[in-house]
Amino acid sequence: MAPDVVSGGSIYRGETIVPMAGATIAVASDHAGFDLKETLKSDLQQAGYAVLDLGTNSTASVDYPDFGTALADAVAVGKAEKGVVVCGTGIGISIAANRNPKVRAALAHDVTSARLSREHNDANVVAFGARLIGAEVAREALKVFLATPFAGGRHVPRVAKLSREAKS
Ligand code: RB5
Repeated sequence: MAPDVVSGGSIYRGETIVPMAGATIAVASDHAGFDLKETLKSDLQQAGYAVLDLGTNSTASVDYPDFGTALADAVAVGKAEKGVVVCGTGIGISIAANRNPKVRAALAHDVTSARLSREHNDANVVAFGARLIGAEVAREALKVFLATPFAGGRHVPRVAKLSREAKS
C-alpha cells in the first residue's frame, strides 16, 4: 500500500483524503462574500477541520484588503495550513492575499481551476467570487482544492520562482 502523503493540512491515502487531526483552515471574506464564507466554514467544520475565522462577521460594508491581508498573514506564519477568501468577484481579496510572498492565492471559478491550482501552482489559498460562482460549485471546488496534492515534478522550479525569496 502506498504511504500516506501529508500536505497542507490533509492526509492523502490513495483516493481518500483525511483531514489532518488539528489541521486549521483560515477563512475570510468581505461583506459580499460573507454568506458564502459562512457556508464554506460550516462544510469545513463538518469535514473535521478546525476553522480560523478572520471575519468579516456580517454583511455590513467593509474593505476586502483588510481581510485578504489578515488571512495571508495567518497562512504565512503557519496559523493555518490553507486559507479560503471570498469577496464579490474573488479578485480584490485574492490580489490582497497575494501581496504576501508566502501566499499563492488562486481565484477558482470551478472544480477544474481549483484542482489545477493545487496540482500546478501548489496554491495555499483559494479565492471565490460570491457574486459569480454558485454556492454548490464553490463547495465542491473547495473539497477538491483540499483533496488535491501538489503534482511536483516540472512544477517545482516554477512555483519556486513565484516566491520573492527565490530571487534574492
Ligand atoms: C464589494 O462591493 C466588491 O467590490 C468586492 O467584494 C470585490 O468584488 C472586489 O474585488
